[in-house]
Amino acid sequence: MTIIELPGLIDPHVHLREPGATHKEDWDTGTQSALAGGITTVLAMPNTAPPIVDADALKLTLDAAAEKCRCDYGIYLGATKENVQSGLALTDRVAGMKMYLDDTYGTLEIDWRDLTTLNAHMAAWPKDMPLVCHAEERTTAAAIMTAFVNDRSVHIAHVSRKSEIDIIRAAKEKGIKVTCEVGPHHLFMSEDDFEWLAPGYREVRPRLATKADQEALWQAIADGVVDCIATDHAPHLPSEKDRENPSPGYPQLEVSLALMLRGVQEGRLTLEQLIPLMSTNIRRIFNLPEQPDTVVEVDLDAKWIVKAAEMKSRCGWSPYEGWELKGQVKKVTLRGEVAFENGEVTAPKGFGKNVAELRNK
Ligand code: NCD
Ligand code: ZN
Ligand code: ZN
Repeated sequence: MTIIELPGLIDPHVHLREPGATHKEDWDTGTQSALAGGITTVLAMPNTAPPIVDADALKLTLDAAAEKCRCDYGIYLGATKENVQSGLALTDRVAGMKMYLDDTYGTLEIDWRDLTTLNAHMAAWPKDMPLVCHAEERTTAAAIMTAFVNDRSVHIAHVSRKSEIDIIRAAKEKGIKVTCEVGPHHLFMSEDDFEWLAPGYREVRPRLATKADQEALWQAIADGVVDCIATDHAPHLPSEKDRENPSPGYPQLEVSLALMLRGVQEGRLTLEQLIPLMSTNIRRIFNLPEQPDTVVEVDLDAKWIVKAAEMKSRCGWSPYEGWELKGQVKKVTLRGEVAFENGEVTAPKGFGKNVAELRNK
């Protein structure tokens, strides 16, 4: 047994499905899943039903979150053609803005040709608030360019290709304020080696890329070009994967740390590099409040087999089913209270706090 203590991990990209699809996940099961993975803050995406694009939808989800969350949370406002100005009234309640510029799940995709809407949000959204883009290939360059000309920062979600990480690297070298995240799935799976997943289960956006893309992402992690690891935890039921038009996305909150520890075991990165990627960089980029008296105890030697049936997530499957991982979360203390121990979540419903409220104090 080798116990190490990590700071509370932060996941800046999760889909917890409330309101509208609580059969997949809700604020309760989603935050339990986070704590089991050593994650003490989640930032949730707005592609719910209804989508979080106005005050009414935001109130709906914030009320549910306040009642159910077991770890700290934030919520993104979804960008639309219509809410460039009206969204500004909601900045005190949200973690940031999310803009969908490419193929995704839900109703929030903005046409990739619509430069007017993209630029309007880049100009209007407060410069000290995070603005996250689901961008791929050319829309990555569009997001970076519009952020640059408006003298603001932008965060690129779930980077999956060499072309994208190359342009981000080049923009950073020019001093442009761009940050990015990578998901464990794009590091550990490629289009060449996921035969064990039935076709519908493979679906994820961005799609799994090539081995060369995967290598470029690992190299960018080693070089410090990648700022964060984000799960893009995107639960859907097996019945929604195993059909025509399968819903894209993988649940990953409970495996993310152990997968990244596999990266450490394989010599891809060091433990010292892992902590900023999963905690301190994210706190800085997303301007998140400190969590005092918060610690994640991990046994680096504990081996375990991924079994979706034993997970807290409601969706009931994992793309990593049967994988043997080494490194397991044993205990999570959040703001001085034991929140997870011996496989059980002990933080009660409603224990989690909205990071926007903590930030405003
Ligand atoms: C996400 C979802 O299911 O909400 N799916 C996915 O494949 N990543 C949407 C998204 O992140 O674009
Ligand atoms: Zn996305
Ligand atoms: Zn996502």
